[in-house]
Amino acid sequence: MQLIFKLGKNPLLSIAEIYSLMQSKDIEFNTIKANNNIFFIKLKKPIYPDILIKILGGVIEIFRVDEIISYTDAKRVKPQFKVNIDDLTFAYGMIVAKQDIKDFEKKEIEKPYVEGKNGMVPSKLAKIMVNLAIGKNTTTIYDPYCGTGSILIEALLQGYKVIGTDINPDVVTGCKENLKWVSKEYGIENRSEVFINNASSLAEQLVRMKENIAISTEPFLGKSWTKPVQKNVRNKKIIANVDKLIISSIRSTSKILKKNERLVIMIPSFKTKHDIIYLKAREMEFGNLRKITIIPEDLIFNDKKLGKVESFLYYREKAIVRREIFIFEKF
Ligand SMILES: C[S@@+](CC[C@H](N)C(=O)[O-])C[C@H]1O[C@@H](n2cnc3c(N)ncnc32)[C@H](O)[C@@H]1O
Repeated sequence: MQLIFKLGKNPLLSIAEIYSLMQSKDIEFNTIKANNNIFFIKLKKPIYPDILIKILGGVIEIFRVDEIISYTDAKRVKPQFKVNIDDLTFAYGMIVAKQDIKDFEKKEIEKPYVEGKNGMVPSKLAKIMVNLAIGKNTTTIYDPYCGTGSILIEALLQGYKVIGTDINPDVVTGCKENLKWVSKEYGIENRSEVFINNASSLAEQLVRMKENIAISTEPFLGKSWTKPVQKNVRNKKIIANVDKLIISSIRSTSKILKKNERLVIMIPSFKTKHDIIYLKAREMEFGNLRKITIIPEDLIFNDKKLGKVESFLYYREKAIVRREIFIFEKF
């Protein structure tokens, strides 16, 4: 079975998501072509694209390839039945699954508790954050800064048990409400625990946990940033505190991870008028965690060897806070 994934706005992130998900489900494949628009693979065993598209956040469409045809033959084929591979060839086939945009919007807009002030992880990104974190044995997803529960909602929908903690009691109540709403709306069991905790230390309830956990989170950003950051004393202090909290929470929460289990975190950087403020957390080493590269370094991407990709930037041009996703694994 040959499939082409049409990639979202962050192609490398979408490809990393596919690799991680396939590895976690033991699905083997060979890559035929990878570039900014498509990820073309040959699978050893057939899979259901309609199920796959519901799990993935970074794939817009899945196209089933029946045949490779020449540029000349492709001229007679309607646009919906072909995908351009390179200057000389096209894939002939059909779209077999499409991303359900309405479902993303439903979760973002209709969930009962929305906390605008702290920013919300869009559903697409939340799905990606789950898929980057999971391994073959993962049973539980933990978000130590759970907020409204965007990441936990996607994890629950994928069948994982979810644990969320947050320092703010109102947010904890809201997140519980959201998870209850999802379980009712989608007819799934609400296997969740949400409670108050400061992410700088590991909650008592989690210390002796035996489950196979993956941590996936967007940490606290200090405040809501609407204008380019001015480098004044106040802002420098806020950003230094964000940095400290991220470092201490990576150290504390990763204590629950066993060998090969992952912690996926969005480390923010902040745009000023002329440059970007990066956090120390971005460069740090954390004891028995190592940053991993999910995409093979020898992948040919845009006709060149890709090399080492250790983080993925996810941001809109106008955004002040840039989210950079790092994947750590316990060793
Ligand atoms: C950026 S939001 C997380 C967004 C969340 N992923 C979502 O999609 O809704 C950060 C959250 O961190 C919480 N927070 C702030 N300081 C914290 C701390 N020290 N420990 C745990 N949570 C904290 C805030 O209450 C807020 O809900």
